[in-house]
Formats: sequence, structure tokens, C-alpha cells
Amino acid sequence: MEKSRVLVVGGTGYIGRRLVQASLAQGHPTFVLMRPEIGLDIDKLQMLLSFKAQGACLLEASLDDHASLVAAVKQVDVVISAMSGAHIRSHNLKLQHKLVEAIKEAGNVKRFIHSEFGMDPSKMDHALEPGRVTFDEKMELRRAIEEANIPHTYISANCFAGYSCPNLCQLRTLLPPKEKVHVYGDGNVKVVFVDEDDVATYTIKSIDDPRTLNKTIYLRPRDNILTQNEVIVKWEMLSGKVLEKIHIPADDFLASMKDTDFPHQVAVGHYYHIFYEGCLTNFDIGEDGAEATLLYPEVEYTRVDEYIKQYL
Ligand SMILES: NC(=O)c1ccc[n+]([C@@H]2O[C@H](COP(=O)([O-])OP(=O)(O)OC[C@H]3O[C@@H](n4cnc5c(N)ncnc54)[C@H](OP(=O)(O)O)[C@@H]3O)[C@@H](O)[C@H]2O)c1
Repeated sequence: MEKSRVLVVGGTGYIGRRLVQASLAQGHPTFVLMRPEIGLDIDKLQMLLSFKAQGACLLEASLDDHASLVAAVKQVDVVISAMSGAHIRSHNLKLQHKLVEAIKEAGNVKRFIHSEFGMDPSKMDHALEPGRVTFDEKMELRRAIEEANIPHTYISANCFAGYSCPNLCQLRTLLPPKEKVHVYGDGNVKVVFVDEDDVATYTIKSIDDPRTLNKTIYLRPRDNILTQNEVIVKWEMLSGKVLEKIHIPADDFLASMKDTDFPHQVAVGHYYHIFYEGCLTNFDIGEDGAEATLLYPEVEYTRVDEYIKQYL
């Protein structure tokens, strides 16, 4: 079967750059949106040029210029958006409505993957303020996509390993703790950690797959479904050092949201749902979903031990 032509929007971002690489690696004709608004951002430009050197085609278009966006979308079969949506970096999910409008007008797109790549927003009706904005906006996008009858796949990628594994799930740092570690409650809630390159690999695998059409694909690599305690033990075994554990009751953790900056409030809310409530693993995948490692058993995913070894 001929490989679909893929356009990545947000291709220089944290997950976007991996989607571009995975699309190229899996042999898709790969296009990357090059926005004139990048201005003097030479790092972005050089990354775009490196994609071009690897065989990608750069398409100049702006989300603020509908005609340019329609023209870009018309050149491909699949559009994947990796628009920013993490407040600790930047958050512009709503801009994707412009992409939906362009896809609607172009009328040729066989699959659209909008920027989700996290918890399943359809399971987060009850989410806490202010972090619920992430889920509300992702759901608004879903409604727009479905109302426009755009063929789609939703990717529920769970926790990007880089944000939550080497730091043993601590907030405000990406590095492993040296002496003490904060443990959420009893630390026994099951969480799912996924290597970011694997997120991209599974996403690209799904785009030409009829089994994933109009479904949610959950990334639940079995060996990476771990509790916080299990992640800590893995690090202790690797580093040869036992850390002091400080258990934080749920109420104290939630209270830490008060009088702090907005991105941290969002992060505390999300972590509460993940590490206390178990929102990544407290439901079974239904008829409207499928699990990525079962669909694509040939992918050798990265285990948490292997991932955190880099930080020794
Ligand atoms: N599961 C997890 O643990 C986890 C963690 C973090 C993020 N996420 C999710 O992953 C997705 C992507 O997040 P990310 O951290 O990879 O994003 P990011 O690197 O912060 O940004 C991605 C891209 O968004 C585009 N962008 C940002 N501001 C823009 C603007 N004003 N106008 C037009 N384009 C703009 C840029 O595209 P260009 O390349 O065109 O400049 C940027 O490279 C989000 O849905 C987020 O919620 C999940």
C-alpha cells in the first residue's frame, strides 16, 4: 500500500520533532509546516532545515493565513498537529480550530490527529480548575472535528517519560532527586510512562490503519505501567542509593496549589488526577478505543529502566 503523505504542524516542538522523524523513518512523504512567524528563531529554522536535509518538504504557511493553510493541507493525506499545550512551555491548543477550518475547506484529508498526546480528555469531566482548561480545550477540538466529519484518530499517550520518570515524578525539576523524594499518597497508584520517541512511532503507525479510524488509541506499554514506588525502586537499584521518602497526603498536595504560579497550579491538578486518583489506568478501553502495543507488537518500546539509565 502506498504510504500516505503526512503534514506535521508544530514540527519543531517537543513531540512534533519526533513525529517528523518517525514519519520519515516509516517512509512517509513528510511535510512540515514552516511558519513565517518564527521570525528570528534560528534554532527553529535550523531544525526545519535539518528535516529538509533528511527528506522532508517544508511548506510555508501561517495559521493566520487561511488560504496558505488550505493550500498546505491540500498537498497531503494526513495532518498531525503537535500544537503546544503544556503550560510549563506554552499553551495554544485553540489555534487548532483554524486548522480544522482549513481541513474542512480542503476536503481531501483522510486522517487528522490533533494535539492531545496526554490523558484522555473525555475521561476528565471532573478535572480540577485551573488545569481542566487542557481537557476542555481538547474536547472542544474533538467536537469541531466530529461536527465537520473529519476522519480522525485521538492519541492518548499518557505520561511522557522525560517529564516524570528520571525526576521520580517530582514537580519543578526534570532531574533525579539526590536525597529525598516526595511520594504521592502511598505511592501505589498505577501510572503509564511512555518514551516520547515511542509516542511518535505509535502515532505514525496508526495513520494508515483502518483499525484506528475515528478511535482513541491508548499507549499502555505493559512493562511501563508502574506505580511511583516502583519507579523509585528502579532508580534506587540503578543508582545504588536509597532515598528518604516523604509521603504527601492528597489534601496537602492540593493545598500546595495555593498562591503559586499558574503553570504550577495546572501541573498540581494534573498530577493529582494521575498519581492520587489513577486517571490513566482506572478504566478499561472500550469499543471506541484500541491499545497501541497490541495493535503494533512489532514495536520494541523503551522500558522505564532503560530510559532513566541515561540520567546516572
Ligand atoms: N503526556 C505528557 O506528559 C505531555 C507532556 C507535555 C505535552 N503534552 C501534550 O503534547 C502536545 C504538544 O506539546 P509540546 O510540549 O510538544 O508543545 P511545544 O513543544 O511547546 O510546542 C509545539 C509547537 O506548537 C507551535 N506553536 C506554539 N505556539 C504557537 C503559536 N502562537 N502559533 C502557532 N504555533 C505555535 C510551535 O510550532 P512550530 O514548530 O511551527 O514553531 C511549537 O513548536 C500538547 O497537546 C500537550 O498537551 C503531553
